[in-house]
Amino acid sequence: MSTTHQTVILSHKGEPLTITTRPTPKPGPNELLIEVHTLAINPVDHFQRDYGVFIKDYPAILGSDVAGIIIETGSSTRSTLKIGTRVTALASTFFTPGNDYGAFQKRVLVKEDFVSVLPNSFSFVEGACFPLAVMTSWNGWIWAGLEPMSTIGSGTSTTTTTSTNEGVFVWGASSSVGTLAVQAAKLMGFKVYATASQQHHEYILGLGATRVFDYQNANVLDQIVSTARSDGVSIRIGYLATGDQQLAVNTLDALRGTDNAKLAIAPIVDSELKVPDGVESAFVSPPQDPDELRERSRSIFVNWLENKLAAKELVSSPHAKVIQDGLESVNGALDELKAGVSCLKIVVEL
Ligand SMILES: NC(=O)c1ccc[n+]([C@@H]2O[C@H](COP(=O)([O-])OP(=O)(O)OC[C@H]3O[C@@H](n4cnc5c(N)ncnc54)[C@H](OP(=O)(O)O)[C@@H]3O)[C@@H](O)[C@H]2O)c1
Repeated sequence: MSTTHQTVILSHKGEPLTITTRPTPKPGPNELLIEVHTLAINPVDHFQRDYGVFIKDYPAILGSDVAGIIIETGSSTRSTLKIGTRVTALASTFFTPGNDYGAFQKRVLVKEDFVSVLPNSFSFVEGACFPLAVMTSWNGWIWAGLEPMSTIGSGTSTTTTTSTNEGVFVWGASSSVGTLAVQAAKLMGFKVYATASQQHHEYILGLGATRVFDYQNANVLDQIVSTARSDGVSIRIGYLATGDQQLAVNTLDALRGTDNAKLAIAPIVDSELKVPDGVESAFVSPPQDPDELRERSRSIFVNWLENKLAAKELVSSPHAKVIQDGLESVNGALDELKAGVSCLKIVVEL
């Protein structure tokens, strides 16, 4: 194995990423070296390139989502993680600082707690669509109290609600985060009321939503509330993956009756957002404490995602657009996502 590999680096805020070669690191305890076959693009990547958000030191290696093959293991890694194992992983310097850990390179180090075995039934393109969206959807659902950590992954269907009339809503369900929030809530046994553009309604129903509404309809709030009432479904929890935050808050307020309600918000929360008494909202974020983060990532990637992939209870979502020109195409992929996508994950094959 060569001792160097290719990467794309951000030298200065606002500049395009440039291709370079860097030394290939050795995995430490509980770490894996992954040969990256595919990487997926997320909105935070172009915010980092263009505005330098969350970047402390330059040059920086960006990116979060990879799928590939383990080519070296550190000491004491999980017995299922061997050289040659296909995996999907959250490879992000947000969680482990240092350029050895950012996704946009041909070989990347990851902590084993952020890794799930990828069964042969999923392609590397499909595998790269999961990590950040899965972590983000769970961080929101857990904050909202949907799933106690101890029961996230049992290997079989995970159900927290036995009631057939308990629902949640997912706003912006055709986004990357939204599709995973729908799938996770459905697997927990909730009725999922979702919003998306009309052309994606069949797709979102196929992911497990019970009802889908067009967020562009002027009466969407009334439609959701009256449909939930006539269905006999009670909704006290919402997840805003993307879209109009005030409309989502108002919808939850109208749905909750006299009960308290919680709305998890994945994007930066609007400073103008008005949240009425009885509704609690919060920006979705991972635990800050390192031990809690380790416990959270193990629950999500080792217990839940790995089991759900093996059981074929999840599908890769949303639709993938594959770009086959390797690292050279990453800037273009970031520009394409920045221009706006509709029910699409952009995946670069290396
Ligand atoms: N807090 C965190 O830790 C965290 C982590 C990851 C991402 N995020 C944030 O979460 C958000 C979603 O990320 P993503 O990667 O899932 O986004 P994405 O896939 O790029 O979102 C694209 C989708 O947005 C939908 N959309 C656009 N305008 C909408 C509106 N007004 N109402 C409802 N849906 C609308 C479109 O739906 P249609 O095509 O149906 O119109 C499209 O499918 C971003 O703001 C991202 O920065 C936060």
